[in-house]
Amino acid sequence: MEQTFIAVKPDGVQRGLCGEIIKRFETRGYKLVAAKFVQSSEEHMKNHYADLKDMPFYAGLCKYMSSGPVFAMVWEGQSIVKLARMMLGETNPADSKPGSIRGDLGSNMRNIIHGSDTLENAKHEIGLWFKPEEMVTYTSCAKAFLY
Ligand code: PPS
Repeated sequence: MEQTFIAVKPDGVQRGLCGEIIKRFETRGYKLVAAKFVQSSEEHMKNHYADLKDMPFYAGLCKYMSSGPVFAMVWEGQSIVKLARMMLGETNPADSKPGSIRGDLGSNMRNIIHGSDTLENAKHEIGLWFKPEEMVTYTSCAKAFLY
């Protein structure tokens, strides 16, 4: 089953949106397999966003992402990488449709939530944020109803 990395960014945490975001993933039928509340270093965020290092916003993005705690999670489900990105909305909340997380809850480039954009990046990001022993394996009864 596919897994993706999702993080509530410092603005989302401080606006009290973790519960709302978890609820959206749970009610969509996805399974939580890892979670932790962390204060990341700027160094860690530079690694996380290494592919953006030439972008003009890179330094500001890494600083913002290490400015306060992040709620990091791994969620599991069918086609979750693509479908989670649809749940998030567009990068800029102003372009995001109502019904999406950023479309309902965001208004500027402090855009609340991160989600891996490809399966390859999801694997890479999960490895950056979680040790194998922090990932929980269990069988959810809900699966029988969902797939
Ligand atoms: S890009 O330019 O196509 O690579 O950008 P995109 O894939 O849409 O976004 C990559 C991450 O960079 C963040 N981003 C920004 N942050 C601050 N300011 C500006 N202008 C900006 N543009 C993009 C964007 O939120 C993405 O971060 P994540 O954590 O993946 O949401």
